[in-house]
Amino acid sequence: MEWTPEPRELADLELLLSGAFQPLTGFLGHDDVHAVHERGTLADGTPWPAPVTLHLPEDAGGEVTLLDPEGVPLATLTVTEHGPDGLAAGPVKGLGAPEHGPFARLHRTPAQVRDELGGRPALAVTMRGPLDDLDEVAATAKELGAVIVLLPLSYGEDGPGVVRAALRARDRLPAGTLVVPVPLAPRGEPEIDLELREHVASAYGAAEHLAGPEPVRIPGPPHRRGLVVFFTGLSGSGKSTIARGLRDALLELGTRTVTYLDGDVVRRLLSKGLSFSKEDRDLNIRRIGFVAAEAARHGGLAICAPIAPYAATRAEVREMVESVGADFLLVHVATPLEECERRDRKGLYAKARAGLIPEFTGISDPYEEPDDAELVVDTTHVSVEAAVERVLGTLRAGGWVR
Ligand code: ADX
Repeated sequence: MEWTPEPRELADLELLLSGAFQPLTGFLGHDDVHAVHERGTLADGTPWPAPVTLHLPEDAGGEVTLLDPEGVPLATLTVTEHGPDGLAAGPVKGLGAPEHGPFARLHRTPAQVRDELGGRPALAVTMRGPLDDLDEVAATAKELGAVIVLLPLSYGEDGPGVVRAALRARDRLPAGTLVVPVPLAPRGEPEIDLELREHVASAYGAAEHLAGPEPVRIPGPPHRRGLVVFFTGLSGSGKSTIARGLRDALLELGTRTVTYLDGDVVRRLLSKGLSFSKEDRDLNIRRIGFVAAEAARHGGLAICAPIAPYAATRAEVREMVESVGADFLLVHVATPLEECERRDRKGLYAKARAGLIPEFTGISDPYEEPDDAELVVDTTHVSVEAAVERVLGTLRAGGWVR
């Protein structure tokens, strides 16, 4: 079978294949993971600091071809163990797929780097952000008579920035300094992360290892950060009207770019053809979340207004948005069903009651009330203008608009 692992797992796969995780040659099974947690060794006693794991779907077994997100086969995994938690262990074998991604040309395997060093001692510096003391690095290298090997840890959103920082540092360090990006995903605990960095550094032939400082992450001011304002509520609750009012008010202010993803509008193109089954509604919301997160990734403001009846799917979108460094604001338009049905602007509730529209939210399909909304508005006794003003007030109070 074929399987596309998660980005973190793919990063680990690359290091397994390159030899940067030597002596590991594959993903760890239950006993090894247990030993790593308990003693900082593999089950056979070999020192190893961190789990290197892969999850596969239940039905996977035998030989599994691991693909990158574009579907290019990267490696075969021979599954030797597949636990009930999905954890799959076994050796991996590379298929020689060409690497791509930013700075792919700078990637080198530990063997290639050791070759380049030709037996000279090396001082490896692993970096997750800019180096603050190049003099110290240069002095240490001089003392050791060592070649400096900068290992920018290039996994994740900040990866390309870390590689650029390493290239800038190289220009100010002694001639012959090497820069080799290593896609090492950070481990939860700092000490474990550090130990793993030591292991990788020694795989690259380093006699000594310096860990660069942890980057100080200063999030941009809220008015420059991406934001997704996500309205949820029953059909006819007033979501679209408030969302449109908010969009117009923001365009009048003119200080933010706006992407507008109304439920009915989305279903005319982006989600055309999807039904109102649970699966299709979830897919619809994930698509909306994906587009909103892309807009927010670049500092944009996205307004979404679908019903989004399922809490877990809304939580997924929140996660997607926050993972690109943007903020997420859930606005529950909590106009009760009786009021939505009394208004019945599109005549859909009457049809749903008559059994002409199956799976209609609130009538014959569920709506899970949010318990994590940043703002709740009920339009029963509140005008559209007042509702828009309340949302704008929240955006001003949070500094998202000035
Ligand atoms: S969601 O559940 O997937 O979030 P979405 O917001 O895209 O729903 O679409 C809801 C709109 O589709 C409603 O405002 C209504 O006009 C229309 N609609 C048609 N059939 C249904 C249905 N079975 N349930 C809810 N809305 C429906």
